[in-house]
Amino acid sequence: MTALNILCLLMSILAVDGLISYRVGQSRRCYYDFTLELYYTLAKGCYDCPHNKTDCYRPHCVAADGVQRAIYTVNRMLPGPAIHVCENDTVIVNVHNDLNNAEGTSIHWHGVLQHGSQHMDGVAMVTQCPIAAKTEFEYRFKAANAGTHFWHAHSGLQRSDGLYGAFVIRQADEHEPHLGLYDEDLPGHTMIVNDWLVELAINRFANHHNSAGDNKPRSMLINGKGVLQEFFSNSDNTSSYTPVHVFQVTQGRRFRFRTISNGILNCPIQVSIDNHTMTMIASDGNAFEKVEVESFNIFAGERYDFVLGADKPVGNYWVRVRGLADCGVKSAHQVAILRYDGADDIDPPLDVAYDLADRGGKKLNPWNKKSTEELVAVADLKARNVSTYALQKTVPDKTFYLAMDFNMIDNYHFNDKSFYPLNAVDKPGKLYTPQINHISLVLPHTPPLTQLQDIPEGDFCSYGDAAAANCSSEYCECVYRLQVALGDVVELVVIDEGVTFNANHPMHLHGHAFHVLGMDRLNESTSLEEIQKLDGQGLLPRFWFFHCHIEFHVDIGMGMIIQVGDQHDMPKVPTGFPKCGHWSFSGYGDAEDYPSYCVGGASRAFTVSISSFTVFYILYVLIS
Ligand SMILES: *[C@@H]1O[C@H](CO)[C@@H](O)[C@H](O)[C@H]1NC(C)=O
Ligand SMILES: *[C@@H]1O[C@H](CO)[C@@H](O)[C@H](O)[C@H]1NC(C)=O
Ligand SMILES: *[C@@H]1O[C@H](CO)[C@@H](O)[C@H](O)[C@H]1NC(C)=O
Ligand SMILES: *[C@@H]1O[C@H](CO)[C@@H](O)[C@H](O)[C@H]1NC(C)=O
Ligand SMILES: *[C@@H]1O[C@H](CO)[C@@H](O)[C@H](O)[C@H]1NC(C)=O
Ligand SMILES: *[C@@H]1O[C@H](CO)[C@@H](O)[C@H](O)[C@H]1NC(C)=O
Ligand SMILES: *[C@@H]1O[C@H](CO)[C@@H](O)[C@H](O)[C@H]1NC(C)=O
Repeated sequence: MTALNILCLLMSILAVDGLISYRVGQSRRCYYDFTLELYYTLAKGCYDCPHNKTDCYRPHCVAADGVQRAIYTVNRMLPGPAIHVCENDTVIVNVHNDLNNAEGTSIHWHGVLQHGSQHMDGVAMVTQCPIAAKTEFEYRFKAANAGTHFWHAHSGLQRSDGLYGAFVIRQADEHEPHLGLYDEDLPGHTMIVNDWLVELAINRFANHHNSAGDNKPRSMLINGKGVLQEFFSNSDNTSSYTPVHVFQVTQGRRFRFRTISNGILNCPIQVSIDNHTMTMIASDGNAFEKVEVESFNIFAGERYDFVLGADKPVGNYWVRVRGLADCGVKSAHQVAILRYDGADDIDPPLDVAYDLADRGGKKLNPWNKKSTEELVAVADLKARNVSTYALQKTVPDKTFYLAMDFNMIDNYHFNDKSFYPLNAVDKPGKLYTPQINHISLVLPHTPPLTQLQDIPEGDFCSYGDAAAANCSSEYCECVYRLQVALGDVVELVVIDEGVTFNANHPMHLHGHAFHVLGMDRLNESTSLEEIQKLDGQGLLPRFWFFHCHIEFHVDIGMGMIIQVGDQHDMPKVPTGFPKCGHWSFSGYGDAEDYPSYCVGGASRAFTVSISSFTVFYILYVLIS
């Protein structure tokens, strides 16, 4: 057994609560069991939490930020089980959909490229049918690309309510460019941050889109923990709070931290650690030349790895996350504790003013700002491990200009033109539709990866169709598809027009890493000038999903499907893979063969099926 093997095994045993068994050897397999349920914060299993802090750590106790609300969980944990494996391990996750409300689901392994295992990408209605309630689905794939990833539900808004967790693939020392920079790379230093609502996301979604409710989060979580709600006890005249997360470090050692944003709404998150700087080393699983900063911003779906030198006096230091953009409206923020070994176990004081201050100093990944000496944009970073494939070609095979904005258009889902058009409703009820090139994506009725032939060609539209169809003035939706050939080097010029709002759209492309060739902010708003050049590479045949990672945006169509290759390039569908789609008698031409009550008209219907007088009477009245 090599050192690498031992490391993997230890990771699995120590870090993975969903792990049910393991095997070591030539082909190492890591098994996990995920049970998805509707659950509740501070439920029975929490006993006297938060008045008794010890109770908050009981199994099945999800204290979150202290606000009582329904949640979705995997194995009654928040976040769900962390997966820590090594490069080339086979990951096997058996998902049991036990969601009590009969919703379908799927799990996406965000950042895992799935080359050769495209059917395991976990996008409902793109790569698979939703996993129906009370059924199981086994994901099985090779952990081929190392890095900090995460997993989350990819059906509706489910990841907003708790269906998410860490997924880290560690690599052999000889492949790690930053090996000398840190002494420890431990599961305990994984940090998942996200904005968090005080209710099920679907409630907020319905209120915001169909009525006048806002979409501004008030809270955030770090590793599922935080403080929002105060619990006052009259008996001893004291207040209690739910516990915050504690990161333990040892003075004199250097630790690799892996930060993941499961951000939900338009909520960039500024991360900083009091009295410490951070040496940033990797983004979305890819190493870059180190940059030392006081803080960094992380957007929905992004990951950042940094090294923290524990070189300060033994003590407790705040890890702070501060919500920007829509999260700034209600001052959403949260803290965790960086605790040196030997420091006292202390509670967080609620010094909100201090929590809300910008840390200042050098910052990575600024929000809608030009880069400067102090503000380091992603395009300023130097990749450590550049894939030469995309860069072999100086001219891309295909270029697409993708302009995004919130369009003032009567979207019949939320503003019915006949009854309550945009121009008839007051401001809070006016819903501007987030679109790409004036088109909204609707997912097809069957997954194109497995049932392409079942999707009528007329359901699709593609690049350039918007102008032909007047989509600037009429709401347009379709199965929005870009087609590229297998092996193409593709350039995406992603533009935020910014006419309606000063927003941001963290775009996530499944199946590929991309090179950011440039980015800039040109003006308050633009049309085709503000340019982010993204260079994607189509190495394998499959459909990839490209979408905004803000949950309310993608849910109403800010996305597109990239079809790489033709039908004959598509990988073979695994035997017995579930199918789904529309069904009707007429659609399949066998209506004539099926016994029907109503064939032949009312009199026959009457003789065959109606036996009670009441029904006969009603029928009679209707006829007369
Ligand atoms: C708090 O809860 C723990 C675990 O349930 C229990 O052992 C302990 O006695 C409780 N403490 C108090 C003060 O009730
Ligand atoms: C993982 O597999 C790939 C392809 O089979 C191989 O090139 C690579 O060396 C393997 N990595 C490790 C750490 O074994
Ligand atoms: C660099 O790329 C090679 C080949 O694609 C891969 O095996 C290796 O793990 C990568 N290293 C890092 C740090 O990403
Ligand atoms: C409760 O605490 C408050 C604030 O510390 C104090 O003013 C008040 O006198 C206390 N009441 C009792 C009954 O101890
Ligand atoms: C941490 O930083 C604060 C604010 O700059 C400063 O007041 C404090 O002395 C520092 N603490 C340590 C232990 O360096
Ligand atoms: C686009 O709009 C113009 C003017 O309103 C109209 O004449 C034309 O028929 C429309 N084209 C389509 C394809 O709807
Ligand atoms: C910036 O936009 C405004 C209108 O929004 C326009 O008047 C101005 O010319 C633009 N400036 C540049 C440099 O493009």
